[in-house]
Amino acid sequence: MLCMSDTNSLNKHVHSDTPEHTENMAIALASECPDAAVLYLYGALGAGKSTFARAFLRALGVQGAIKSPTYTLLEAYVLANGQDAVHMDCYRMAQPDEIDYLALDAFDGTMKVLLVEWPEKAAGRLPPPDIEIQLEMAGDGRRIGMRAVTEKGRNWLNSGSF
Ligand SMILES: Nc1ncnc2c1ncn2[C@@H]1O[C@H](COP(=O)(O)OP(=O)(O)O)[C@@H](O)[C@H]1O
Ligand SMILES: [Mg+2]
Repeated sequence: MLCMSDTNSLNKHVHSDTPEHTENMAIALASECPDAAVLYLYGALGAGKSTFARAFLRALGVQGAIKSPTYTLLEAYVLANGQDAVHMDCYRMAQPDEIDYLALDAFDGTMKVLLVEWPEKAAGRLPPPDIEIQLEMAGDGRRIGMRAVTEKGRNWLNSGSF
């Protein structure tokens, strides 16, 4: 089960026993996702960032393959309502200024969500996050920490039971 802690705080954490629990966490957050939301995903290789991101995108209605942006750095999806959902993985970015070539501002006004794995590799060149998620190994499962950084993020994190 996902164990809730600290329900009224802007920092929350839950324990996820299985990949499905992490996916359910992502699905719950996606169901309350505000427009133009920015979500950073931190954690070691294998921590579950992509598992979370894929479930989140699926919950927004993305159909078909959800490719890993490991080599492309960015994968973009058009949702049924015409908004864009963008998934980035900055792990293989050689230089932080590679971000500038990705023309993220092309999504201004149509962005539903920007999900970023390894945002620390982009060294401040990304839009600032509304919520930061940290996944850590914890026994056989994962500890998932969530931190709301903006007003939008705080409202989002307070809008559901996650
Ligand atoms: N509680 C859990 N939450 C998320 N992933 C888990 C969990 N337990 C085991 N796993 C496994 O860990 C791996 C996470 O891989 P992935 O999501 O690609 O990680 P990352 O993107 O952080 O490198 C998957 O094989 C997944 O099945
Ligand atoms: Mg990944």
